[in-house]
Amino acid sequence: VSMNMANMPSGKHDMQQMSSSGISVTKLTEDTVESPVKTFDLTAEEAVIDIGNGKTIQAWTFNGTVPGPEIRVQEGDRVIVHVKNTLKEGVTIHWHGVELPNAEDGVAGVTQDAIPPGSDFTYNFIAKHAGTYWYHSHQESEKETGKGLYGAFIVETKHPTTVYQREIVSILHEWDRSTFTVDGTSLGAKYAAKPGDLVLLRLINSGDATYNMTLTGSPFLVSAIDAHDINEPTELNERIIEIGSGQRYDLVFRMPESSGVKLVNVDKNEKQSNIVKRLFFTSSSTAKNRMLQATFGDGEVTGNVNVLAQQPFFDMTTYGSPVLQGNDPLSINAKFDAQYDLTLGNMLGFFNGVFTMKFTINGQTFPNIPMLIVKKGDWVRIHIQNNSPDNDHPIHLHGHSFKVLTHNGEPLSGSPIYLSTILVKPQESYDIAFVADNPGLWMIHCHILGHAANGMDMMVNYE
Ligand code: C2O
Ligand code: CU
Repeated sequence: VSMNMANMPSGKHDMQQMSSSGISVTKLTEDTVESPVKTFDLTAEEAVIDIGNGKTIQAWTFNGTVPGPEIRVQEGDRVIVHVKNTLKEGVTIHWHGVELPNAEDGVAGVTQDAIPPGSDFTYNFIAKHAGTYWYHSHQESEKETGKGLYGAFIVETKHPTTVYQREIVSILHEWDRSTFTVDGTSLGAKYAAKPGDLVLLRLINSGDATYNMTLTGSPFLVSAIDAHDINEPTELNERIIEIGSGQRYDLVFRMPESSGVKLVNVDKNEKQSNIVKRLFFTSSSTAKNRMLQATFGDGEVTGNVNVLAQQPFFDMTTYGSPVLQGNDPLSINAKFDAQYDLTLGNMLGFFNGVFTMKFTINGQTFPNIPMLIVKKGDWVRIHIQNNSPDNDHPIHLHGHSFKVLTHNGEPLSGSPIYLSTILVKPQESYDIAFVADNPGLWMIHCHILGHAANGMDMMVNYE
């Protein structure tokens, strides 16, 4: 179990007004004064990983561990990562959620060739925005990320406005859709924290499943999603948050005086689905009885999670106050230069003689889905509708963050929400918008990597 001690710069910070539970989060400021260079070495190599309960996994790793080493820098740093590949197949590293130059995006066959066995490659970019990110191989992503080629990428703010006594990075992962681990262990990771500590918990979903997570033992805040701060976050109590594949949620809680805090994955009731569907929706990750768990601090954890009392599972409008901070041009009433509709679906059929489930965008599979063409400076609006009967589709846009404008046709009324991956559940729709400010050839795809491998990918290109 890896443990990441808080590594907060000392100096100017002031605590904002406390809420009733004593939790406080304020907006962080940006700083791009200088670019110190931070260099890292990652070697892709095979290793046998012990995940507990007598179970070992023949994993593909960075530097022999799963998750791979945490890469931690400060905003404005130049990040240089030397990658050496000792595996028998090619690898790349994609910096999920990071807005970097196209050539550093690590997409095999698009921004670079896969790094061949025995070769190396250097990534070099500036970490512009603070937040929780992660990295993973983007060569045969489903197989290689699934086998363990992933890790956390943390960009610290230079001017923290909240002091955390403790910071923990937790990565939720699944192996072959049946074994679930948090921070590389299936036993339940355990972290020490002192009573009264203000804890920042950075949650990363590196698996394909949607995780229904909550904290018991303490109220908590969602301070950021996908590396973007929530405006004046709302205090939540045992509320389930749904974390789609690729997404990151930063939670903040105060360690209680006399009990521990538990992070749990709530196994909500499986939807009714007939046998045929079950057979062909194996990649929908509805494995039963999974239990991901992490415990913080000592002492008994009190309280049960009552799933039925938690409905609705996810509602973005409840996260924080709607007040806009800063100068944000994107709103539902803005004048957009380009507007696209993406309808997500499935298609069962014979492909190369094999009965297969394909995942489609506007009825097509990659590479037949037309690209979205944008011009630098365009404001782009995309309507996404999930028509799959059973499948979540967490849609990831590379190289940009986007703002969520509507959910099921209704404007969001809570905090402005910016994401790089949006979880679209069956029959849901969203309007999202982004400013085309990062030229290149970028992917949009479902982050359930099995769906991506079966058609649900497309490209955004700049004319
Ligand atoms: Cu994290 Cu294209 O993926
Ligand atoms: Cu999908």
